[in-house]
Amino acid sequence: GRRGDLAGRRVIVTAGGTHEPIDPVRYIGNRSSGKMGYSLAEEARDRGAHVILVTGPVALPDPYGVEVQPVETALQMRDAVHRFIADADVLIMSAAVADFRPATQATQKIKKRSSGAQGRGQSEEGEFSIELVQNPDILGELAQILNAPPAQKTTCQRLVRVGFAAETEHLVAHAQTKLQQKQLDFLVANDVSRSDSGFGTETNKVLLLYADGRIEDLPLMSKASVAAEIWDRVVPLLSVQEQG
Ligand code: PMT
Repeated sequence: GRRGDLAGRRVIVTAGGTHEPIDPVRYIGNRSSGKMGYSLAEEARDRGAHVILVTGPVALPDPYGVEVQPVETALQMRDAVHRFIADADVLIMSAAVADFRPATQATQKIKKRSSGAQGRGQSEEGEFSIELVQNPDILGELAQILNAPPAQKTTCQRLVRVGFAAETEHLVAHAQTKLQQKQLDFLVANDVSRSDSGFGTETNKVLLLYADGRIEDLPLMSKASVAAEIWDRVVPLLSVQEQG
């Protein structure tokens, strides 16, 4: 049975979307509700794991029996993941991490251009632009660390890593690229072109892609059921590691 098959394990789940501040009142964000990640955290808790839920700002209540680490930005999410990674057996990143952030954060609320004065980022025509810089790729960096020569290796070598990919087109092709770039145990390819799947929905339609090229096409189901299917596939990877 599934109950207890994660007992004694420490798992990190990331959930929600990051918010990248523009000024004290505005941010760049995305539509992630956190439901997929919170379902993963609750399922792992029910199976006996110690769960660290690193979550972007979402409207969901803290799940009972889970260690919640709230973050706002991609940089904070990366810090939180790094803080817990050394003792973790599993990292599942279902968070929608912003790929870019504003290069600088205004200390005061940005105002509309007043006649004569040209404000920060504003042209004379009244156009406004924000310079963006790239955020670190949290999973991509981990792949680099784990690939480093032995002396540089950290203690997180036996970490099972699972990523998600939200795609609107070319689902398999785009997901395969991410699976390889981030060197994951498997990747959950999330079809977000359907109205009953992806951001904010109760149900989800996913494909599971493995490094050996295998693909599993799961039917539409609740996010709680998707979470159970995912942990069902993580558990055997844990026992393989113990023998090795
Ligand atoms: O929260 P819900 O409303 O329930 O919606 C769930 C979801 C659609 C957000 C979720 O199922 C999902 O698909 N999450 C991944 C969103 C995404 O678009 O990921 P990505 O393709 O940008 O990134 C691929 C993987 O790398 C992800 O595991 C991501 O967490 C990770 N990543 C991304 C960017 C970055 N800078 N660092 C990362 O580690």
